[in-house]
Order: sequence, then C-alpha cells, then structure tokens
Amino acid sequence: MGNHISTHFHLVHHHKKKNHSSSKKIINNPYRFINGRKYFNYKDSIYPLPVDDEECYRSQNQHFLFHHIWEENFSSPVKQILEKGGKVLDICCGSGTWLLEMATEYRRTEFVGVDMIPIFPSEIKPHNSIFIQYDVLNGLPFKDDEFDLVYIQNSSICFTESQWKEIVIPEMIRVTKPNGWIEFMEVELKIENLPKNFEQLCDAFIEYGKLHNIDLEIASHLGNILQTHHLGRLTDFKKETRKLLYYEKIDTDINRTGKLIKENIISFYHNISPIILPILRITQKEYDEIVDTVNINFEKNKCFNNIYRYYARKKSLEN
Ligand SMILES: C[S@@+](CC[C@H](N)C(=O)[O-])C[C@H]1O[C@@H](n2cnc3c(N)ncnc32)[C@H](O)[C@@H]1O
Repeated sequence: MGNHISTHFHLVHHHKKKNHSSSKKIINNPYRFINGRKYFNYKDSIYPLPVDDEECYRSQNQHFLFHHIWEENFSSPVKQILEKGGKVLDICCGSGTWLLEMATEYRRTEFVGVDMIPIFPSEIKPHNSIFIQYDVLNGLPFKDDEFDLVYIQNSSICFTESQWKEIVIPEMIRVTKPNGWIEFMEVELKIENLPKNFEQLCDAFIEYGKLHNIDLEIASHLGNILQTHHLGRLTDFKKETRKLLYYEKIDTDINRTGKLIKENIISFYHNISPIILPILRITQKEYDEIVDTVNINFEKNKCFNNIYRYYARKKSLEN
C-alpha cells in the first residue's frame, strides 16, 4: 500500500543551484529543542513554528476550521477532473490533513504531498496518496507539466519574498499542466481592532519576520506578485476573500466558529512564543497572560482578519 502510486510520477532530483543561497541540506540530526518545544534543526532555517504534536494538533484543527469557512477544500474549477482522475500536488503539506481529506474524497485522483519535515503519515494513508520529504527551495522534484492542480496553503511564513517570486511560484507553474491550476490559501497576519496589549506580540512576530527577511504580511499581496511577475504564464486569475471573526454571534453557527478561531490564535501565539520572546522584553508568564486575554478582548473589540484564496490557470501553448 505504502508507495502505491509512486511509479506514476517521474521524480526529478534537482541539483542545488549555485546562485540559490537559500538552498539547504536536510541534515542528520533533524531536531533541536527551545523551551521544551521541538523544532526542525535546519541550518539557517527561517521556519518559525515547532514541529511537535501540539503544533500538528493546532494545524489539523485549523484545517477543519478553514474547510468549514470555505465550504470546499479548493476554489479552482477542477472538481470534474478530480472526480474522473487527475494529479494533485500539495506543497508544504505539513501533517497532510488537507491532502488526506482530498485523497479520501477523490479516489481516482493521485495526490502527492511535499514537505521538508516528515510529519506526514508514512504508512497509514489512502492508496492514492504519497508524501515526499523535500526542500521546495531546491526546486520541485517533478518534471514539467505533471499536475492538474498545484496547491499551497498557510505557507506565507516559510519563504522570503524573493523565494516566492524566483523559486516557489515559478516551480509551481513549471510542474502544472498547461490549462491546469495553481492555488494559494493564506491568512492575513494583521488582525483588525487588535487590543493594545496584544499589539506588541503581533509586532514582535513581524519583527522576527524582518530579521529573517520574511514578509509576514505577504498574504494580502501574493495576488499582486502573481499578476505582476508571472502573468505571462498564467491566465484567468481569481481572488476570493473570507473573514475570520474572532467574536461570536449569538444563535448562529458563527458562534461556534468564533470560539474555534480564538482557540486557534491562542494556540498559534503559544506555539511561536519561543521564537518571539527573545524579541520582547517580557517574561514567559507575562506573555502567557497577554495570550490568555484573547477570549475576552478579541470578543469585546470585534476583531477580525482576512483569509485569501488566489488561483490562476497555466496558459496552454495556444494562449
Ligand atoms: C504552517 S505549515 C502549513 C502546513 C499545511 N499546508 C497546513 O495548512 O496545515 C508550513 C509547512 O511548510 C513546510 N516548509 C517550510 N519550508 C519548507 C521548504 N523549504 N520546503 C518544503 N516544506 C517547507 C513546513 O515544514 C511546514 O510543514
């Protein structure tokens, strides 16, 4: 069962390109610990989240939350292809929740997940899915024009703007079939009506981003990057927006969703605390107390932020 579909794919191993200073090797001792949290031990890694059970649990819950908000796992018009049988690539797939759900729903389609950290399932998974440990910054290990849909979500914290422009997006386009689709789903970091006491945490995270050259606010202008830098190879560009409301509307379904959205942001800020505490001049206890005010203050301030889906079709040779 393990690698049932692997022979259908032509894995191409890219040699590190000399001019990509970001290219990295996955090294032998893969983990390190900061304040009891487990991190991927990647030389000069900028990835800010831990890779332990607690973070997997948060990202799985977040997936179900977003599925509920969008009502569908993707927006590109590929449903019919997936029902008949196509090929889908999920980049930075994490623990693979999106891919596992998709592979279970579309049994005739082949799904490939790629992530630099092997937190995805290795044994128990649908027969039409495989996962590959690979650093996307070394180029995607597939030949040109392979997939009907190339998907990436929640990965704005993984790459610098130039890595998006010069490696990730061009590679996504390269491995997509002509007339196939690429799709992004990203959450805006900036929360509207943010309570004063929380601003310093958000600012410290943005500061962490700047120190590592990551634009943590890229979610809102990823669409512009697609249109200005890659439109020569893309067409039918679309953007969709949903709101994450951190407050509860009584007697509606949003009531429960608001509670889950608050739980997710609390858990997210707990999980990034080891990397942003050194930037803040407060103790862990003070930090935790601020995070714990989310339940009351985000509700009171009627906080919200946006999540975006951007998708576009790869031009065919005739276009
Ligand atoms: C925030 S998680 C999102 C996971 C998943 N897409 C989701 O929505 O739950 C980002 C993922 O990107 C992976 N990642 C970061 N940099 C990467 C790289 N250069 N190559 C491959 N995967 C990478 C991380 O290991 C992590 O699993």
